[in-house]
Amino acid sequence: MIKVVVIGVGNCASSLAQGIHFYNHNRAPFGLMHAQIGGFQPGDIQIVGAIDVDHRKVGKDLAVALKSEPNCTEIFAELPDFGFNVVKGPVLDGVAEHMKQRFVVDDAQKVVNVEDYLRESGADFAICYLPVGSDEAAKFYADAAIKAGVGFINAIPVFICSTPEWDERFAKAGLVCAGDDIKSQFGATFLNRLLVEHMIERGFSIDDLYQLNVGGNTDFENMIDESRLSSKRISKTSAVKTLFNEFNSEKEPCLRIGPSDFVPHLKDTKICYINVRGKQFGNVPFELELKLTVHDSPNSAGVMIDVIRMLKVAKDRGMKGTVQPVSSYGFKHPAINETETDVRKHLEEFLVG
Ligand SMILES: NC(=O)c1ccc[n+]([C@@H]2O[C@H](COP(=O)([O-])OP(=O)(O)OC[C@H]3O[C@@H](n4cnc5c(N)ncnc54)[C@H](O)[C@@H]3O)[C@@H](O)[C@H]2O)c1
Repeated sequence: MIKVVVIGVGNCASSLAQGIHFYNHNRAPFGLMHAQIGGFQPGDIQIVGAIDVDHRKVGKDLAVALKSEPNCTEIFAELPDFGFNVVKGPVLDGVAEHMKQRFVVDDAQKVVNVEDYLRESGADFAICYLPVGSDEAAKFYADAAIKAGVGFINAIPVFICSTPEWDERFAKAGLVCAGDDIKSQFGATFLNRLLVEHMIERGFSIDDLYQLNVGGNTDFENMIDESRLSSKRISKTSAVKTLFNEFNSEKEPCLRIGPSDFVPHLKDTKICYINVRGKQFGNVPFELELKLTVHDSPNSAGVMIDVIRMLKVAKDRGMKGTVQPVSSYGFKHPAINETETDVRKHLEEFLVG
C-alpha cells in the first residue's frame, strides 16, 4: 500500500479519495492515464490521515468531511467510512479575510501537533491541498513533513519543491517530493501548452494569447483577492511562457493567463477560454478561439493518482529530493519546464528505470 495524508479536505481531496475507491472497484482503465505504475494500481493508495481547519470537517470521519460544505464537487463514488476523523491543523494564512464565511474555524477545537501526527500516521507522503495564497501554512506543513520523515506532494502554487532550498532540505532528510501546483489531466494549462508547442513546431508565430478561466468552487472564490492569486498567475503563465524560450521563438508574444472570475452557480465546473492570434504561412494572420468546459477537481485527481504512485517508485529506488520527471509531468511550476513532448519522453525513461 502507498499511504498518504491529505492536508486540506476540499474538492481535490474529495475527487482523489473517490477516484481511489472508484478504480479499486472498476478495473476498466477508462479515465486513467496509467492503469498501473511500478506494479501499483490506483486502489493501492490508502488515505491514512486528514488535516483541515473547518469545524464542519474537523472531528468527522473523512468520508463525511469530504461531503461537507463548502465542498461542491461531483460525487461519482459513495465512500464507506475511513475509520478515522479529520484533525485540526494550524490556520496560519490558510483562511483569507474574505473566506472566513466559507472556511469556518471554531477556535474551541484543539489543534493537533502536525509533526507528531504525520510521523504516527506512517504515511509515505503528505499532500498539500491548501487554498492558493497559503504561503506560510504550506511551508509550515512542508517543514513538518521533513521533521516527521514523510515525503511531500505540493498541489498548490506556493513554490516549494521547485526551489533549490527545499529540494536540498528534502534530499538531506532522505525524502522525495514533487511540485508545485498540480497540472490537470486535460485542463487549460495542458491544452494551452499543446497548442503553443504544436503551432510553433509547425511554423506558426504567435503575436498574442489569452487564457481566461472562470469557476464556481472555493478555489475560484479564494482567488477573487488578487493578492492571493499572484502565485497562481505566475505558475499558469510560466507553464506557457517557458515554451517560447524552449523553442527559441524570436519574439515573446503578449500573454494574459490566469483565473479570471468567480461564478458561484458554476460550482466545480471550470470554463477556460483560449484565444491565440498570430501569423501563418506567408505572414498571413490567423486566430484561434477555444472553449473548454471540465469538472475541475476530478481533472486534478487524475494526475495526482499517478504522481503518488510515481513518487512511491522513486522512494523505493532510494531517490532523494525533488523528483524532476514526476514534477514536470504532474505540475505547472516544476523546477524545469519542458515541452510536453520532452515531459513524456523523460517520464517514460524514468518509469522504465
Ligand atoms: N484542478 C484543480 O482543482 C486544481 C489544479 C491545480 C491546483 N489546485 C490547487 O489545489 C488546492 C486545493 O484545491 P481545492 O479545490 O481542493 O480547494 P478547496 O477550497 O476545496 O479546499 C481547501 C481546503 O483547505 C482547508 N484549509 C484552509 N486552511 C487550512 C490550514 N491552515 N490547514 C489545513 N486545511 C486548511 C479548507 O478548510 C478547505 O477544506 C488549491 O490551492 C488549488 O488551487 C487545484
